[in-house]
Amino acid sequence: MKLKPSFPIPYDLLLLADPSLEQIHSYLPFGKCYSAYEEEELIGAAVLLPIDESKVEIKNIAIAPPYQRKGYGKQLLQKVMDLAKAESYKTIRIGTANSSIGQLALYQKVGFEMQEILFNFFLDNYEEAIYENGIQAKHMLILEKSL
Ligand code: COA
Repeated sequence: MKLKPSFPIPYDLLLLADPSLEQIHSYLPFGKCYSAYEEEELIGAAVLLPIDESKVEIKNIAIAPPYQRKGYGKQLLQKVMDLAKAESYKTIRIGTANSSIGQLALYQKVGFEMQEILFNFFLDNYEEAIYENGIQAKHMLILEKSL
């Protein structure tokens, strides 16, 4: 897998991870969007947003549906963490919904630890109710990993 700065922005991929275009536009101008290629095929994307000098957040990460559950998400996370480390960040964080069971499994498998809960984040910031795995997305769980 190869990462390149995104041009153009792969909105179809970003919308898989974040169904609100409004939310995407709130962080995209301040972050860096990367596209992931496998054999020249665009298969994933991630957005990194600096929080401060030592901390960076993965605001969005997605793998195209035909390529999901094949290990590419784990690879993309590893690439993004390597990139953040190379840019001298000490901590990387990621937020996901209380309903995102698969994502929570993945992030903990690559070493992220639960840090905080933003209660009612999805109720307060998204117009449409979001359900995954039969669970309503209400709270944002923040996980962090030292680099
Ligand atoms: N249910 C349960 N476990 C899951 C899962 C799911 N839906 N998706 C991933 N996992 C876990 C598995 O435990 C897997 O571990 P294993 O390798 O031991 O089997 C691990 O994550 C790695 O999976 P991988 O194949 O690398 O994940 P992926 O390529 O499907 O990418 C996402 C993961 C989340 C990036 C991808 O599914 C995606 O783009 N989803 C839609 C967008 C999204 O939700 N982004 C995150 C927003 S917070």
